Amino acid sequence: MTVRDTQTIFLADYQPPTFLVDHVALEFTLHPTATRVRSTVKFRKNPDSPVTDFFLHGENLNLLSAYINGVAVSPIMTDSGLTCDVPETPFIWQSEVEIDPSANTSLSGLYMSNGMFCTQCEAEGFRRITYYPDRPDVMAPFDVTIHSDLPYALSNGEPLGREGDTSRWQDPWPKPAYLFALVGGTFEIFSDHFTTASGKPVDLNIYVRDGDQDKCAFAMEALKISMAWDEQVYGREYDLSVFNIVAVDDFNMGAMENKGLNIFNSSAVLASAETALDANFERIEAIIAHEYFHNWTGNRITCRDWFQLSLKEGLTVFRDQQFSADVRGADVRRIEDVSALRGRQFREDNGPLAHPVRPESFVEINNFYTATIYEKGAELIRMLRILVGDAAYKTALDLYFDRHDGQACTIEDWLQVFTDTTEQDFSQFKLWYSQAGTPRVTVDESFSDGTYYLTLRQSTPATPGQADKRPMVIPVAMGLLNEDGSEAVPTQLLILTEESQSYSFDGLQGRPIPSLLRGFSAPVILQRSTTKAERLILLAFDTDMFNRYEASRELGRAVLIDMLCNTAAPDPSYSEALLQVLADETLDPAFRAICCALPSQDEVAQALVELGHTPDPVAIHDAHHKLSQHLAGSGLYVLRRLYKAHSVNGPYTPDAVSCGHRALANLALRYISLVDDAALATEQFAAADNMTLQMPALGNLVRTGHGDEAVQKFYSQWRHERLVIDKWFSLQVSSCDPTQAVAIATALLSHPDFTLKNPNRFRALIGALAMTPAAFHQPDGGAYDLVVDQLIALDDLNPQLCARITTVFETWKRYDSNRQAMMKAALLRIAAKPKLSRDTREMVSRLLQA
Ligand code: TRP
Ligand code: ZN
Repeated sequence: MTVRDTQTIFLADYQPPTFLVDHVALEFTLHPTATRVRSTVKFRKNPDSPVTDFFLHGENLNLLSAYINGVAVSPIMTDSGLTCDVPETPFIWQSEVEIDPSANTSLSGLYMSNGMFCTQCEAEGFRRITYYPDRPDVMAPFDVTIHSDLPYALSNGEPLGREGDTSRWQDPWPKPAYLFALVGGTFEIFSDHFTTASGKPVDLNIYVRDGDQDKCAFAMEALKISMAWDEQVYGREYDLSVFNIVAVDDFNMGAMENKGLNIFNSSAVLASAETALDANFERIEAIIAHEYFHNWTGNRITCRDWFQLSLKEGLTVFRDQQFSADVRGADVRRIEDVSALRGRQFREDNGPLAHPVRPESFVEINNFYTATIYEKGAELIRMLRILVGDAAYKTALDLYFDRHDGQACTIEDWLQVFTDTTEQDFSQFKLWYSQAGTPRVTVDESFSDGTYYLTLRQSTPATPGQADKRPMVIPVAMGLLNEDGSEAVPTQLLILTEESQSYSFDGLQGRPIPSLLRGFSAPVILQRSTTKAERLILLAFDTDMFNRYEASRELGRAVLIDMLCNTAAPDPSYSEALLQVLADETLDPAFRAICCALPSQDEVAQALVELGHTPDPVAIHDAHHKLSQHLAGSGLYVLRRLYKAHSVNGPYTPDAVSCGHRALANLALRYISLVDDAALATEQFAAADNMTLQMPALGNLVRTGHGDEAVQKFYSQWRHERLVIDKWFSLQVSSCDPTQAVAIATALLSHPDFTLKNPNRFRALIGALAMTPAAFHQPDGGAYDLVVDQLIALDDLNPQLCARITTVFETWKRYDSNRQAMMKAALLRIAAKPKLSRDTREMVSRLLQA
């Protein structure tokens, strides 16, 4: 495949823009099939650019007219835009184009969703709206006029009012085109107010479809808390008189930070007790915060080019993680963040799609909105903060905001503020941005005469295009425990910079138990052959809650691997240890719940790969089930007591404390259901007055083969709530007997509520099937075929989503030769589709290349 030769874009080829923009005026006449866009752009030659070629991006546009300084011109049209002769002095470009939003199924550019007009411009969607230098280092103030008979027509910045069918908006803050947004439609509005620290009033509005007004209160509260938090923690105030959020049903990702007009996937903003899970509330809070925080890290300071994407995304994820830790509890949030990192980013980093946090080339930028850019990017910021300390981090951030406000920046700019603040050298740290792959840290240790000797060695495996890796800066927070669990050496920081480093700790009473990588201080895989006895002590006594959780996972993985590789029986000491944690009322219920769920099936598969074994997802599923049953059988009494004690009475609230109780009660229910014929789940399903009770109960009924009637009942109860129906689709394929999943999914494909056009629905059915390991990897390959059939159908409609979901095949090299052959054939079948999109083609070729 030769995609790379023809379409690849390289960081090394970056050139500053030829022309800069001083002002943009856009005038829209909205029409579902024939929207007119007139643009008036003030251009000026960029003194920093040696070339003079004038080029404007444009895609799928019908150019009606073009003028320079009022004189009609006939530009030369190219594949990706247009070019024409322009004066050397500043000039005014005017054009009129016609576009067809109703034919736009890709959800990029201007499109229709349920009768509303809506835009998505990041990364390169603005060029589907009008001709423009669609690159993030061209920033300009925008004025927008919208003609439409719809009740609401919104854009970025300050509202200048509406007269008849004409609404006008003005965004005073220069911004790149990817932050442009426009919305038109019929809405209900949920409103509130915020007063900034310096006393400026801000109107807050959430625009939703009629019927959704009662699902906005939680997001609004989260927004106000986020605004106050960014003032208190980062000293950042909001900078417009209005902050609008619009909920859209058809949306490719979670949400988008358009200046003053955030657009949200309705699943990332709407929630009520009856329709949303605790986990949905948590996600909404985090995404509201994330998009709001982008106002400073992304909008006021943006990226010079898309290779710098992690500059805004890694930093903003880190900020939303800090926020969630503050409002919901740091220990449990850290565990959840790391578990997501390992589940998605480690998987990516150890497969054919591995790439650096700052990639050096891409074909389609949409394919680089990845766990590596986002989650690993956030880990890099966290490490920087650990390395320089909280105070210096704050000073560096103040300098960053001060120095770069209004600019389009690079990773170099970002690191420079740390250099200037601390006078440290970050050139080795910078390798984290350029080297892909998850470093392995191995541990050698010995003990004699009261001294503990520790040697840490690091190495990073080869990744596509990067054979040899240099040693990185790895902060390892660690402490030592005595055998009775008491603390021998409190937390301290070891900073690895070389391939191998040795440390010693003297004056010890006996051989200590090391607690390494506390708080998961670096995104690495720690390889140490810990004994069961040590893990049990860490689980019971470590002062670091993350490492207690870690000890529990390691125990669980070891037991499962022993069952899988040596046909061992479930180890009763593991069940006992978990039951002890579960019953320990001094521990936070949320922590107990997360600590005592078994390691996920994919986590076990990853661990087997690490040990050089070939994972069999069906066998893993069976071992998992057997171990759960063992735990349920041996702990039934404790589990029932736990269920009673933590069932929350009274009205539902989504605060962290009640979420923790429900998580623990639902975990107990999950085990109990394996041994009580689902009697308790039946009860909970019947009595549930909120989704966090109803849906897990239904999951247990389905998992234990008692679900048929309840599944129908759930559907008739919720058929008009599309976000609940998404859950209904997912649950049936992810909780059923995995041998039945393809048959069930096939039947659901012809359900009247299934559609390829809605990304949430596609993910709910096809995504869920592909993310349920034992169902996806059934030995007959039926699920591979089903998923590929649907991806091939999706590609014509929505390339971005298709490419993204194609990554479910990224683990194909892990499996046995039969599965590998079938997965490879599946990928080749996608590759052979006529007119395959550039997005999907790039993904498939990278997946096959390795
Ligand atoms: N910048 C957005 C965020 O991180 C995500 C985003 C990027 C996006 N491209 C998109 C959202 C395309 C929807 C569609 O919050
Ligand atoms: Zn973001």
